[in-house]
Amino acid sequence: MTDLNDLQGNSKPEMRKKLFIATFGCQMNDYDSLTMSRLLHNTHKPVDTPEEADLIIINTCSIREKAENKLYSLAGRYRHLKEINPDLKIAITGCVAQQEGARLLDRMPYVDIVLGPQGIYRLPSIVNQAGEKPGRICINELDPTFSIPLVRAHTAPPDQVRASITIMQGCDNFCTYCIVPTVRGREISRPPEDIIEEIRQAVELGAREIILLGQNVNSYGKKAGGRTLHGHPGFAELLEMVDSIRGVERLRFTTSHPRDLDYATARCFGTLRSLCEHIHLPVQSGATPVLKRMNRHYSRQEYLDKVSMLKSECPEITITTDLIVGFPGETERDFEQTVSLLEEIRYDQLFVFKYSPRPGTPASRFPDQIPEEVKTRRIETVLKIQEKIGLEQYARFEDTDVEILVESHGKEGSGDMQGRTRGNHVVHFPGTSDLLGKLVTVRIERACKHSLRGRLTACRANGSDAAENPVQPAI
Ligand code: 5AD
Ligand code: SF4
Repeated sequence: MTDLNDLQGNSKPEMRKKLFIATFGCQMNDYDSLTMSRLLHNTHKPVDTPEEADLIIINTCSIREKAENKLYSLAGRYRHLKEINPDLKIAITGCVAQQEGARLLDRMPYVDIVLGPQGIYRLPSIVNQAGEKPGRICINELDPTFSIPLVRAHTAPPDQVRASITIMQGCDNFCTYCIVPTVRGREISRPPEDIIEEIRQAVELGAREIILLGQNVNSYGKKAGGRTLHGHPGFAELLEMVDSIRGVERLRFTTSHPRDLDYATARCFGTLRSLCEHIHLPVQSGATPVLKRMNRHYSRQEYLDKVSMLKSECPEITITTDLIVGFPGETERDFEQTVSLLEEIRYDQLFVFKYSPRPGTPASRFPDQIPEEVKTRRIETVLKIQEKIGLEQYARFEDTDVEILVESHGKEGSGDMQGRTRGNHVVHFPGTSDLLGKLVTVRIERACKHSLRGRLTACRANGSDAAENPVQPAI
């Protein structure tokens, strides 16, 4: 087990420099940003505005939008802060850093450090080079044998109640539209003991819900840097291990690849105490020919079979998905197939994206790219259909009691608290801060488009089998 904290300097807290991180993209990037602030904990104190900072990190994402443009405009704004604070360092990390590497240093002379996702673990030694001024530096090679180090958590996770833990990095699937395998490298699973230790630390610091993260969590333990692993615990076994950790009230994971979702994992939904009845199962398209060109390795029917398997193991499971519209060559008939799949499965929530060609990916070179106006029309159609389905799905909760883990305050000034059902539906209800981190029962009064509203009816002490304590209904 590597403990990078030993590499850090040992400044007294009041002497620490100031760190500002701007994070774009997915939960993996949020995790990497948290890791960087932990790595620099002894020498850098996180601050809320770039103006205060001695080190600014822009943690980029390139999965969909024009990430580089966003990066250039943001970095351009930060460069002016160097005029006020000549010691300010600017670092670029994440997918764009991995992809563009030293080109970013050439293009932006005011950028000091460029680090790919594996390079971030060298931040302490780069930033804290004693005495001399570090030169400009770029680390973006991908080592296929890399293993994610264990980084000690000094502080509570930013949202206290939920902590995300990366269980694997990279992806071996090579969906033809996706940049992830290029920028995150081959799949590498973390040893279970590191994962368990990180979860224990998070729970000790107040986390009640654990979210296991990976691009393709269902193939956990199967491969490492292109090699097939034998005798390594698989994903279902990992879920069992985490479920048995004291203090883990709720367990979730993301993201699943339908092809790799096996029966052992589906069974866990019906058997493990903490595993919440929700799965995010990206379908991407409802048309088999499109799925084939996407290199997804499943047909429409095979996807439907996986959904049936999940429902037979756990009838109340909530299923959510990702969709891409306007993939090259997607015909009207293909698109109708997607629409009919939505009507058949009736997802509680979906995230739909217009296909966006990513440089270097096979699909960006496919013929029959779809015109922008067709993509727009298709995305609008999907959103309209899903709005109706989502509302009907959420309406099933009206006049029922649901268990909520209270995560945060609602909108400022609303007097609301916010939490989620086990099925991952956001719930708002009038309440007070002392409920944070508690499991409570809420009677749902109204279903909205993407959330539910209700009133508190009971709360219980977490981690115990104590009977529910009735509370006064909120007026
Ligand atoms: N264009 C549009 N959407 C994409 N996604 C990934 N790559 C692309 C792309 N090139 C979407 C997929 C994936 C989600 C994280 O982002 O739906 O599941
Ligand atoms: Fe990208 Fe496909 Fe891997 Fe997901 S499974 S990260 S979409 S290549």
